[in-house]
Amino acid sequence: MPKRPFVRALLFGAGAALVILIFYVAPWRPAAPPAPQENRFNPAALAGPAPQLDAPYLASPGEVVDAMLGIARLRPEDFVIDLGSGDGRILIAAARSNGARGLGVDIDPARIAEAEANARAAGVTGLVSFRREDLFRTPLAQADILTLYLSQEVNLRLRPRILAQMRPGTRVVSHEFDMGDWRWDDRRRAGAANVYLWIVPARVAGNWTLTRNGRSVQLVLAQRYQQVTGTAGEARVEQGRVSGAGIRFITNLGQGRETFEGRVEGDTIVPTDAQAGWRAVRAG
Ligand SMILES: C[S@@+](CC[C@H](N)C(=O)[O-])C[C@H]1O[C@@H](n2cnc3c(N)ncnc32)[C@H](O)[C@@H]1O
Repeated sequence: MPKRPFVRALLFGAGAALVILIFYVAPWRPAAPPAPQENRFNPAALAGPAPQLDAPYLASPGEVVDAMLGIARLRPEDFVIDLGSGDGRILIAAARSNGARGLGVDIDPARIAEAEANARAAGVTGLVSFRREDLFRTPLAQADILTLYLSQEVNLRLRPRILAQMRPGTRVVSHEFDMGDWRWDDRRRAGAANVYLWIVPARVAGNWTLTRNGRSVQLVLAQRYQQVTGTAGEARVEQGRVSGAGIRFITNLGQGRETFEGRVEGDTIVPTDAQAGWRAVRAG
């Protein structure tokens, strides 16, 4: 057949062209664009360098959150501040279980975004809010309950601010870490964890004038957290204790040792029993 040599030549030419294409042309071709990937854009990453954490992120387990809110005796009218709020679970639980309002602060913007998304999913955005802030800058006076899961060192740094800023009777709850020599008022176990409660004591140190039945003595009180010592005239103040706004001590005003039980209202201590006939007023 006269056509065969022509067909063979044609096939040979096509094969040679294919080899040239594979070995010479293909390596210089521009690389194929990468396959589209999942969108991992994180706007928080644009906010700056990684935040300096004073405590690492670890979420409190559900049973510990329940124990924290339980030991604090959470009520619907309470305003809760969670310092280092992580994914927002403590405040979200407080809002869902009791309708309590709250503010969470965290220095990590990723945590704030996560907490806000969780609050939206739980339908409690009307009750809780989260803001990016260094917890050492958060004003504390507004809280009825303060929740902490940080470290003992951070608790000790917060302690003077808690005692100076927070109203007497405010409940402070900490997951796992205590407050050094400020002894807790209550403690519970939750699984393997400790949950501590402190009641912020009224500030009573200083000079008072204690008056009963028209007779006054100078009451000089010293205070170490809940413990109160001092003198009433010549007598010693014994077994003195402050719990929130409440105060109780024993002293002798000349008729034997008596118990004085009252309530600190600003610059006055008024007796719990209105018939008790005594009161103390701050004397500068
Ligand atoms: C152990 S986690 C507790 C999270 C949450 N409160 C809980 O119990 O599930 C501590 C949190 O504190 C935050 N944190 C650490 N240092 C902080 C600081 N200086 N100011 C604000 N938040 C901080 C961390 O980002 C982290 O989310």
